[in-house]
Amino acid sequence: MDAGPGMGHGQPAGGLTVRPLTGALGCEIGGVDLARLDDAGFARIHAAFLEHSVVVIHDQRLDEAALAAFGRRFGKLEEEPFLPLRAATEGVYQLRGAGRNEQRLSTQNLGWHVDHSYQPNPSLGAVLYAVDVPDAGGDTLFANMMLAYDGLSAPMQQFLSGLTGIHDVLHYGVNSGHHSISTQAGLERLTQARARFPQTAHPLVCTHPETGRRILYINRGWTSAIKELHPQEGRALLAMLNEHALQPIYQCRVRYRNGTVCLWDNRCVQHSPNSDYSSPRHMLRVALHSDWIPS
Ligand SMILES: [Fe+2]
Repeated sequence: MDAGPGMGHGQPAGGLTVRPLTGALGCEIGGVDLARLDDAGFARIHAAFLEHSVVVIHDQRLDEAALAAFGRRFGKLEEEPFLPLRAATEGVYQLRGAGRNEQRLSTQNLGWHVDHSYQPNPSLGAVLYAVDVPDAGGDTLFANMMLAYDGLSAPMQQFLSGLTGIHDVLHYGVNSGHHSISTQAGLERLTQARARFPQTAHPLVCTHPETGRRILYINRGWTSAIKELHPQEGRALLAMLNEHALQPIYQCRVRYRNGTVCLWDNRCVQHSPNSDYSSPRHMLRVALHSDWIPS
């Protein structure tokens, strides 16, 4: 699948090839074995991670320890507050989905979000490893919030530069129906989530700490309001910005097969998992910690 140098897409670097997924973001890397990764190989992957924001590497054979070791090359691993299935290896979580035969699509699809943006320091990124996945379904969509910023008019960029987004762990839960406020159990889960995660605030326009690129720092999951605006103004502005930012021209779509690794730069993309699969799906996940306070 990976284009070699002779096909015009690859960029040879010690046998490793990089092929962009779309014109917006994402790349596939070939010619690498993550279980035997040396420092030069990681440096190339890290460079592709910064350049393309989403990195896909197929045909890997990783156990939990090898996945954790790859994640720790980026720094510390992070706790996942809402994932219940911890694997035996510290920092690794099991993702097990039963598929739509057993789950209601409308309440299981998380939709567009940025991991942990309701915290003062959101995740740097995450790494997924497909252990046993259906032949079709369960893709992840990604959208490039740096291109989304670049695509705004200069007056809008100027207007946003002085504004602050409120990020609220309850926003998604209430608006999606994921945690129903009409049941006692739902209310209790929301109350527990609020106790753990008070509202936090991040500028609407941030600068990527490693590349210096400007980021439209919103996400449909957790950005609930704009601090300086009337609530109605904030809702309308956020709706317009998400409609703009989540256009297909800013997106790529990652399709998994057994052995696929996918990692993304959570600082500058929104992502949306799709629960459209109809048979059981098993993946492993690690979250990458960051000390970056969006600014
Ligand atoms: Fe996520």
